[in-house]
Amino acid sequence: MPARTGVSSLDMQACRIRFALFALLVAMAGWPARAADWPRIDSAIRRDEALEARVRGIVAGMTLAQKVGQMTQAGIQAASPDDVRRYFLGAVLNGGGSWPDGAKHAAPADWVALADRYYEASLATGLAVPIPVLWGTDAVHGHGNVHGATLFPHNIGLGAARDPALIERIAASTARAVRATGIDWVFAPAVPVAQDLRWGRSYESWSQDPALVREYAARYTRGLQGRFADDANAIATVKHFIGDGGTTGGQDQGVTRAPLDELIEVHGAGYFGALAAGAQTVMVSYSSWVDTATGIDHGRMHGNAALLAGALKQQVGFDGFIVSDWNAIGQLPGCSNARCAAAVNAGIDLFMVPEDWKAFIANTIAQVLAGEIAHARIDDAVTRIVRVKLRAGLFDGRKPSLNRYAGRIDALQDRTLAREAVRESLVLLKNERSALPLAPGAKLLVVGKSADNIANQAGGWSLTWHGTGNSNADFPHADSILAGIRAVAGEANVTFSADGTGVDAARYDAVIAVIGETPYAETSGDLPAPGTVRHTDRYPEDLAALQAVAEKGPPVITVLVSGRPLYVNDLLNLSDAFVVAWLPGTEGKGVSDVLFAAAGGRPVRDFRGRLPFAWPGVACPGPRASGPNGAPPLFPRGYGLRYAKGATVPRLPLDPARRCGLVQPPTGSASWPSE
Ligand code: BGC
Ligand code: BGC
Repeated sequence: MPARTGVSSLDMQACRIRFALFALLVAMAGWPARAADWPRIDSAIRRDEALEARVRGIVAGMTLAQKVGQMTQAGIQAASPDDVRRYFLGAVLNGGGSWPDGAKHAAPADWVALADRYYEASLATGLAVPIPVLWGTDAVHGHGNVHGATLFPHNIGLGAARDPALIERIAASTARAVRATGIDWVFAPAVPVAQDLRWGRSYESWSQDPALVREYAARYTRGLQGRFADDANAIATVKHFIGDGGTTGGQDQGVTRAPLDELIEVHGAGYFGALAAGAQTVMVSYSSWVDTATGIDHGRMHGNAALLAGALKQQVGFDGFIVSDWNAIGQLPGCSNARCAAAVNAGIDLFMVPEDWKAFIANTIAQVLAGEIAHARIDDAVTRIVRVKLRAGLFDGRKPSLNRYAGRIDALQDRTLAREAVRESLVLLKNERSALPLAPGAKLLVVGKSADNIANQAGGWSLTWHGTGNSNADFPHADSILAGIRAVAGEANVTFSADGTGVDAARYDAVIAVIGETPYAETSGDLPAPGTVRHTDRYPEDLAALQAVAEKGPPVITVLVSGRPLYVNDLLNLSDAFVVAWLPGTEGKGVSDVLFAAAGGRPVRDFRGRLPFAWPGVACPGPRASGPNGAPPLFPRGYGLRYAKGATVPRLPLDPARRCGLVQPPTGSASWPSE
């Protein structure tokens, strides 16, 4: 609840109900209000009257139980193929860290075998026209849940690359990988335009620039879906509608306070790009929206009829289906994970109720019979789901194992492409004393906890939900950054000490420190105030590793593995060169590719990445990494040095702040450099 003091929660409840009714009326009447606000999108996938006639025929032959089953998505850990048959389930999913038989190292053939069983069960329901089941997965940086798959850099690194064609190629590769496991639907692209990088999902955001997010969303959708004419196409999901990246304080699942035009122009950008390119599904955000222009608290997005049924479907003209997020309906007032007429009435079509799917079906049927949900709303939902399945080719009569890529481990790998993406994503913040590029044959000391740690490189949504609990052995087709350095420099020239102890840095030609964040996903990655965004507050071992090797003579090159910009002035001061590698994924060689010179000393490849978000020079940054009183960030968005064009980075002032919002502004100038 925003600060609207004096208003009781009952009043608010009544107000919300009145608003929902109003929104419904307006939606039914064709939404005359603010018609100019939401753009109408012309989808690349046009309405096809012959297909619509088939959809009508299929839906007309279904019972209520079959329809509600079709609107339900269960987790593979909680619903068997026989459940799909008996309850007419429309979709299944494997959440983060969910694999066939709970086996982390399940082979592609195991995935396909399970997909075939779900598929065959969905054809054995007794429906006049059987409706094949959909299987969705979070392939958000490659096919993250699958052992042996190539993992691409997370979105924030791809934002640094500023290469829309690369995004399309990565999406196409990801679609092939998921089809190789029998899966046809991907919960990506995420299109948040993150505002406060304390948010634990900041790395799922491409950029603070809505125009780039819009373009990337279109290219990602095109790459993933193709024309649904190919065995390497999969259905896209644009998520999370809307304003997930705008929550106050960067709180995951929090409250976005913004006027409607900002919601549309900033947070809507990715949807307009993806929907124009033909994206067939949209996932709703856990977050809430307060319209700061009117002061109205619209509550959680999952109950927002005005924006789901009204804006997205009626005004924007989206004719695919809307899916709820994992158990998100349970967060609506008066709802549980197993029961939520408000969310159905708000316009959600498919319900991600991974464990409580059986009770959800029973309750929803009862609510329709009791008149709490209109039959027409159910028909609309099922129409949309069947439409998308028809468009995507699910009715072509081929089980998952007949896909050309099914079970092929080579189809899960695209190491050359991922390595290229890593190279393009690196951002050079500083390069003094010509620390980079490294001379071939140089004697190197490598330190830092992330040098030989593929899990740290991969971040969240990697084999497990949070990317935790994994060792290098869990990533069989991958290289750590250290492996990449060794491959270029030669084993004999590289000494590794994770914490920098027991070695004398002075005896080497150069030191490389690979440090950074450890993996997280969603809420667990939040950095709530009054904590700072100072990296060394959370990882003092990284500062210690640098202190062990800095100012001993040889230049120190720091590679930061991180899901977001952080306050690192102390680390920058201890480094002669500083490279931001984001969360590069499985291809550590993409980092070493850019660090080394050829014989003769000339760089082989230049840095290309530019900051997708501004970088803070204070421990408690304001909006867009600004300093106190709106002072500019340390490095603006777009910053990134080249070998061909460097710049001097002076010693930076140290910000003493230990608690945000309670301390004096930092000493010295935080405003260098000007844009
Ligand atoms: C996340 C979604 C994800 C879903 C399924 C949710 O917690 O917010 O982004 O697609 O889980 O794993
Ligand atoms: C699942 C994730 C999901 C999360 C939501 C986890 O158990 O594995 O996919 O996003 O729950 O809370």
